[in-house]
Amino acid sequence: MSQTDLNNRVHTQFTSTISQEVNGEVQILGKPLLKLAQSQSFARITFGLLLGQEIKSNKTEALIDLILKLLVDHGPYQSGAVNTIITARAGKDLVSSLTAGLLTIGPKFGGAVNNAAKLWFEGVNNRSNPGEIVENFAKTKRYLPGIGHRQYRLEMPDPRVQLLKRKGLVLSKHSYLDFALKIESITLAKKPNLILNIDGTMAAVLLDVLTIEEKLDLDQISTLIKSEFFNSLFVLSRSVGLVAHYLDQKRLNEPLFRLEPGQVFTDSQHS
Ligand code: ACO
Ligand code: LMR
Repeated sequence: MSQTDLNNRVHTQFTSTISQEVNGEVQILGKPLLKLAQSQSFARITFGLLLGQEIKSNKTEALIDLILKLLVDHGPYQSGAVNTIITARAGKDLVSSLTAGLLTIGPKFGGAVNNAAKLWFEGVNNRSNPGEIVENFAKTKRYLPGIGHRQYRLEMPDPRVQLLKRKGLVLSKHSYLDFALKIESITLAKKPNLILNIDGTMAAVLLDVLTIEEKLDLDQISTLIKSEFFNSLFVLSRSVGLVAHYLDQKRLNEPLFRLEPGQVFTDSQHS
């Protein structure tokens, strides 16, 4: 290579594989956005973008559409909505109130999907004994991701989980959902609150869909787990509900929130 060539070499600042702009037109995964917008569903375009490749199967599209709808909101009591509502009532703007809610998403609330996916993925592929997994978590005093809920229990199951489970079991193979259900059968024998929750169910169904319908190999799925892919659908869908809670508070013109002294236990020895 000549010196001139070396001098002319321009280093790119970023690499992107999901979208680009060609002659002023945006392309998503190599296809014009305008064409996709008129021929594909929101779920299909969205999941393709998150995955970094076009989705192959209509069954995937239907399940992703269902998941996005099921997660959109879960009432005003859950952590995310409470944070958004308090922030909106403190006079903050849309984006601040949304992010206040989003910041609650994590290992206990909505963000356990990825950890559950890791557990189901390793459990199935290492042919682990579900009973041993449950005992190992108990011995080390760790909570099993994807198990447990503040509101739902054996006698009062989460209707979202029931529906998603039914749809997941229709796939031609569902090894991950079977594994998660095996874990649940063991935890439920211990305590009725230790049900498979929506995060755990979603993780299992997504793993089955990616394997059976999208034909991803183990390395590809492992890479997705490392990048927290499995939490992305909760974040995306719940953002809608959080924005709606913000708008609701503004519409109602709710005042600044403050707890009453009786609502907080304070140690009288220090007062
Ligand atoms: N694994 C093992 N034991 C558990 C688990 C779990 N995942 N969850 C609750 N327990 C046990 C606790 O050890 C405790 O036992 P103890 O009474 O002997 O001390 C008892 O169940 C507490 O039950 P709860 O009061 O009903 O549960 P808690 O309020 O402590 O936790 C929570 C609820 C945060 C959801 C919890 O189950 C958990 O962290 N699960 C794992 C994370 C997860 O999947 N979160 C997503 C929930 S769904 C969503 O947010 C959309
Ligand atoms: C949710 O989807 O927000 C819930 O499962 C969590 C909750 O506390 O209701």
